[in-house]
Amino acid sequence: MDMSTENEIQRLTVLLEEYNYQYYVLDNPSVPDSEYDRIFQQLQTLEKSHPEYLNPNSPTQKVGGLALTKFEQVKHQLPMLSLDNVFSEQALSDFIQRVTDRFDEQTAFCIEPKLDGLAASLIYEKGLLVQAATRGDGKIGEKVTENVKTIANVPLKLRGDNIPALLEVRGEVFMPKAGFNKLNEGLINAGEKPFVNPRNAAAGSLRQLDSKVAASRPLAFYCYGVGVFEGQLANTQFERIQQLKGWGLPISAEIKRLIGKENCQDFFDDMQLKRANLSYEIDGVVYKVDDISLQERLGFVARAPRWATAYKFPAEEAVTVVENVEFQVGRTGAITPVAKLKPVFVGGVTVSNATLHNKDEIQRLGILIGDQVVVRRAGDVIPQVARVLFDKRDPDSTREIVFPMVCPVCQSSVERIEGEATIRCSGGLYCQAQCKQAIKHFASRKALDIDGLGNKIVELLVDHNMIKHPSDLFSLTIDQLSSLPRMGEVSAKKLINSLQISKQTTLARFLYSLGIREVGEATANNLANYYKSIEAVKNAGIEDLKAVADVGEIVAKHVYYFFRQEHNVEVLTKLIDAGIHWPEIKAAEQEKQPLIGQTLVITGSFSSMSRSDIKNALQALGAKVAGSVSKNTDTVVAGEAAGSKLIKAQELGINIMDEAALLTMLEK
Ligand code: IVH
Repeated sequence: MDMSTENEIQRLTVLLEEYNYQYYVLDNPSVPDSEYDRIFQQLQTLEKSHPEYLNPNSPTQKVGGLALTKFEQVKHQLPMLSLDNVFSEQALSDFIQRVTDRFDEQTAFCIEPKLDGLAASLIYEKGLLVQAATRGDGKIGEKVTENVKTIANVPLKLRGDNIPALLEVRGEVFMPKAGFNKLNEGLINAGEKPFVNPRNAAAGSLRQLDSKVAASRPLAFYCYGVGVFEGQLANTQFERIQQLKGWGLPISAEIKRLIGKENCQDFFDDMQLKRANLSYEIDGVVYKVDDISLQERLGFVARAPRWATAYKFPAEEAVTVVENVEFQVGRTGAITPVAKLKPVFVGGVTVSNATLHNKDEIQRLGILIGDQVVVRRAGDVIPQVARVLFDKRDPDSTREIVFPMVCPVCQSSVERIEGEATIRCSGGLYCQAQCKQAIKHFASRKALDIDGLGNKIVELLVDHNMIKHPSDLFSLTIDQLSSLPRMGEVSAKKLINSLQISKQTTLARFLYSLGIREVGEATANNLANYYKSIEAVKNAGIEDLKAVADVGEIVAKHVYYFFRQEHNVEVLTKLIDAGIHWPEIKAAEQEKQPLIGQTLVITGSFSSMSRSDIKNALQALGAKVAGSVSKNTDTVVAGEAAGSKLIKAQELGINIMDEAALLTMLEK
């Protein structure tokens, strides 16, 4: 009995170790989480009833143990160095040049993401994790073994062959973005202070005296090197990292071996693009001479190796001062507070504005004019004020942000809608700011699609008092237009011509172009199909509007009240008087639209019609034509040589129509 219990514990342990390896290292689990949990519980139960067989490195022992009163100090057998930094293409190129000058053009580099966490040293003896330490000052660190043992992807026992008798693994402890967000959410809900960023959260968690707390924190580890070891290791950095992976140690999936300046720079550019989509934070790219014997020949300067450098991304956060707050008026009148900043270089560009969104956000930040703030710009994201540096606040040079009582552009009264954080200008199209936005929207591609009427020209036209409303566009003259800066007679003529062309439109486009709140392209389409005339839409009541596909209470109210405002009706009338027209939608067309409410996908090639003609024909029958197959697809129209879309449709059991069936339907 005992013999078999011991065997069973052994069997379950090996199974869980294998599952962990597949999940954390290979990123390719072979069983669902539920199966893992089941085995885990079986092992836990057996270990509880037979503590004599409990192995300290069992996969169940990742929950933390007794709390410490302080961390022991550990002296690193080999110092833990830091890296030199470069911040430009030129500086990276210089680094590569220096190295290749000593060796040759073909010198290979192992290139790794620079993980944004904190360095740790893990010591494995005979394949078992016996000690983990922080970097500390590089010579002496703190022993955080109990905490590191709780990190889910750190193996307590190495797997595979030829494991060195002693192996010091070096790498980064970090907190993946998803775990960080969840942790902070929990802290905020509990009324506690959230962590400022994943690195601080990782550092705070790794240095918990109570390993049970550390165990509850979603930490992770990736290795990027080796310290002391006994036995044989590969002769290149890249191969060593692969060896570590083979022994069950997690590594980043992004690591590559490359030769040449251009490839090295390309990798950096790619990582910068990929950065936002990675599940963990990185702050640059590390370039290491791949050949270990070349590394040894290059050696070290001070505290950094000559054989490696870190090419850092431009900082995504910077400190600056809020010099003022201005209020911008958008197309629908929403008034947005915008912080005017002392210009600061952040995320690779100079930033002088950051949106403050609304009152709630201002309250959340606790921000005042004159405050020092951290501005954040990640990738293409618009600059945000991340937080206020309260301890730097000077009461004498700060003042409160006062919301305007009237629109800052047209002085109309400001509306506050209950339950909304936003305030709005009530001026509608009579407000110059709203007017500019409304005209830009009116001219945009999905609306009247007025070729040559870009944002700049709209601003000029409004600023020069040439137009106030979209309807004024149609009485512009060539003389007026060519009097504008940078507008010659040729472009003026062209614009007049495209204005003329744009008058021929569809009811759906026209409805969309009016810029009614919450009425996007699809809703405009539904309204047009349902009501068939602008008069009918205009006269519809709220309850009636709710009968239209995808129109709920809120949209219905926006549509209803839009047409109850006199100035909107006035503009509408003027537009129609200016000659905007569309083909009549006859009452009978409803019946001629058997595909209304259906989503179709076209794939493959067709002999009797072009793809775009088929699309038009299907849309005329009321169908929505989508680009990809999903469970919401009703029918896939498949021509010759249809590929993956057809396969997906078959898998999902979606109705498939061939060219012959399509033609029969269209004829009907
Ligand atoms: S190698 C001798 N590789 O960056 C080289 N470090 O600025 C020692 N780091 O303390 C470090 N990702 O915490 C190396 N792929 C990577 C890294 C990396 C992040 C951190 C590490 C180190 C710091 C040096």
